[in-house]
Amino acid sequence: MSDLLRRVNESLESEAPALARCLSPLGRRIVMPAGIPVQAREARSTTYNGTIGQLTDGHGGSLPLPTMARVLGGLDGKELDRAFLYSPVAGITEVRERWRERQRRGQGADRPSTLPLVTCGLSHSLSILADLFGGDGRAVVVPSPYWGNYNHVFATRTGARMISAPAFRDGVYNHRFAEEAVAGGALAAGEPVVVILNLPSNPGGYSATDTERREIRASLVRLAAERPVVVICDDAYAGLVYEDDISRWSMFWDLVGAHPELFPVKVDGATKEFSFFGGRVGFLTFPFAPGSPAADALESKVMGLVRSTVGSPVASSQAVLLAAMRESRIEDEIEAVRSLLAERYRVLKEALAQTDDALLRPQPFNSGSFALVELPEELGVDAEALRQHLLAHEDTGLISIGSSFIRIAHCSVDRDELPELVRRLERGVATLAQRTVGKG
Ligand SMILES: Cc1ncc(COP(=O)(O)O)c(C=O)c1O
Repeated sequence: MSDLLRRVNESLESEAPALARCLSPLGRRIVMPAGIPVQAREARSTTYNGTIGQLTDGHGGSLPLPTMARVLGGLDGKELDRAFLYSPVAGITEVRERWRERQRRGQGADRPSTLPLVTCGLSHSLSILADLFGGDGRAVVVPSPYWGNYNHVFATRTGARMISAPAFRDGVYNHRFAEEAVAGGALAAGEPVVVILNLPSNPGGYSATDTERREIRASLVRLAAERPVVVICDDAYAGLVYEDDISRWSMFWDLVGAHPELFPVKVDGATKEFSFFGGRVGFLTFPFAPGSPAADALESKVMGLVRSTVGSPVASSQAVLLAAMRESRIEDEIEAVRSLLAERYRVLKEALAQTDDALLRPQPFNSGSFALVELPEELGVDAEALRQHLLAHEDTGLISIGSSFIRIAHCSVDRDELPELVRRLERGVATLAQRTVGKG
């Protein structure tokens, strides 16, 4: 073990010993080496800088091919340099600072959070967390049904063990899902656990009410009294909330400081919050003050993982995001997208309310991009068979989840087409169930 790695591990062990116990073997081994990026950063202000192997104009500026520079013509000299040169491994500092400021709107100083680290999208943020806290046999709790990519990220890639409990019971959010899953998950006493909290959810399109948030928090605190808990707050759909009484703020903030052995980690990014799907800018934020020993240790470990996989995050996308975050009107533009999605949400809600309960059972939804519909068991209609039928006979594409759920992505359908989509879905179920559509 190098001195650097020993120092980084000791920092984490002294400030957050329970979190240090959650590290996977890879998480313990990884550190940002004092290699080329670190040496180049130290030499940044030198006149004769022959450190980094990127092509420059000889004075630290970029050397873009003119045709490519024209494509990014809206960026001026310094910003163009930023877009064409390597990003720092942790991300462009101003991007990180502005994202932090935006994340922390309305949050008090008593809830510490690190300077977010930039990643190549939220899937990448999650895979970094899987590398740090997953690994062979590590229990990862997620309420079901859940986004299938969690299986790949945690179980397939690292050998972690997914355990689950229903997200809803009789139409009511199951705030004890993590306690229930752990109780049935055959964990040893004191064994660490990772919990994924994805609100607004995919595929459910659900955000917890204020009461449910308090109940979820209390349940996770009870869990942390028994074992260290890393709670991954997957805030992919942050801000996409359509009901006045549902909070737009991440549960990360409710969990910071809630218990000494409870560690929320915030996963968010520009993908959906800035409708910048192709940009691949994600972030990772830990519940420690910037510059604290634990923040520095975790930063070093995340940078080590970024350096050893994608090298550094994408600079050109960060430059685009930065230009946007500097404009005050960007928040109005984000709000305009939210309003557009809110309209689709309302139209879908209305259309689903008209359907026959014997054919379709919409799950509660209030936010995000999706609605989830359960097929009544007694119909004997398989969700995948229904999906195939809708493709072949109803010119309609939806997602099947397990044997009994269909997910509707209302975020990607024109509001005027949503009622017809629902009619076709209902007709498809009726056809397969050999029943006629209609109430009564
Ligand atoms: C719940 C959830 N988390 C994470 C992601 C991944 O986001 P990204 O496209 O930035 O990798 C998605 C994307 O659909 C998602 O639904």
